[in-house]
Amino acid sequence: NWTTGNVIEEQVAAIREQVGDRRAICGLSGGVDSAVAAALVQKAIGSQLTCVYVDHGLMRKGETEQVEKDFVAATGVQLKVVDAEERFLKALAGVSDPEEKRKIIGREFIRVFEQAQAEIIADEGPAVEFLVQGTLYPDVVESGGGTGTANIKSHHNVGGLPEDLEFQLIEPLRKLFKDEVRMVGQELGLPDEIVQRQPFPGPGLGIRIVGEVTKERLDLLREADAIARVELTAAGLDRDIWQCPVVLLADVRSVGVQGDGRTYGHPIVLRPVSSEDAMTADWSRLPYEVLARISTRITNEVKDVNRVVLDVTSKPPGTIEWE
Ligand code: XMP
Repeated sequence: NWTTGNVIEEQVAAIREQVGDRRAICGLSGGVDSAVAAALVQKAIGSQLTCVYVDHGLMRKGETEQVEKDFVAATGVQLKVVDAEERFLKALAGVSDPEEKRKIIGREFIRVFEQAQAEIIADEGPAVEFLVQGTLYPDVVESGGGTGTANIKSHHNVGGLPEDLEFQLIEPLRKLFKDEVRMVGQELGLPDEIVQRQPFPGPGLGIRIVGEVTKERLDLLREADAIARVELTAAGLDRDIWQCPVVLLADVRSVGVQGDGRTYGHPIVLRPVSSEDAMTADWSRLPYEVLARISTRITNEVKDVNRVVLDVTSKPPGTIEWE
């Protein structure tokens, strides 16, 4: 008989048994799965776990603070935050092609994460043998069901470490579906903003700026996105919407009139969708008053934005994200 309490007890016992007095590392992304997996492992082995959060500078407003403050407060987890914003921005400078952006972000992420891992191992010794992953049941099925070890290359800058470190995996969510993971997270006392979070892509806002990614553009998009999120939440629409990407068309300008003068600013696109699994999606029929409020606030409050447009394309043919 399935209860979240049983799942937690069972997993805590299994993790303690598996890890013993050795140590584990877990990467946090800000998403539900890694947060719940980390919280479970923390409950089981406490300070034998170290979490790593790579701040790539592409998160939305408040998300990094949520991990640094709220998640740590709720779990007591030992957290290493790597501020890699500059590194990512430098690597992304001059790049507009979506696939190129994804490749760069993925590559830099692995490098930064491996370096952090190597530093933890250098500090804590060879007992760091486990890597926690937020693998869910659908992921297990998709990948053919095998359990295993991860072969993670240590960063070559850090001396004295073996070339290849073998980690054993801890995957406490392997038997769970998404809604069950959310229940477990809630039971573990994680904040609602983390447990109920809608999907957000790993490359973050980097693939929601059509054009080159710069700090100024990210800041602008963060403001617009924060307004849309606040208003959608206030209207009670979070559960109706699968997610709502907010996109900056950085290379497009259009003429507007604001205050006493003519403006020549960028459009922001709202992309609210409803979906079951993100494979297909329909555009959400949001109430006009909510759209109006978001539009008015964004054009009033966000510098250089003078137009808000609504994406009314289903998937297919349009993907959910613009890039
Ligand atoms: P698309 O744009 O392909 O998105 O319709 C489908 C779902 O996947 C998310 N998405 C990503 N998630 N890394 C991720 O972790 C990515 O590179 C990525 N690209 C898209 C997207 O937000 C949507 O939920």
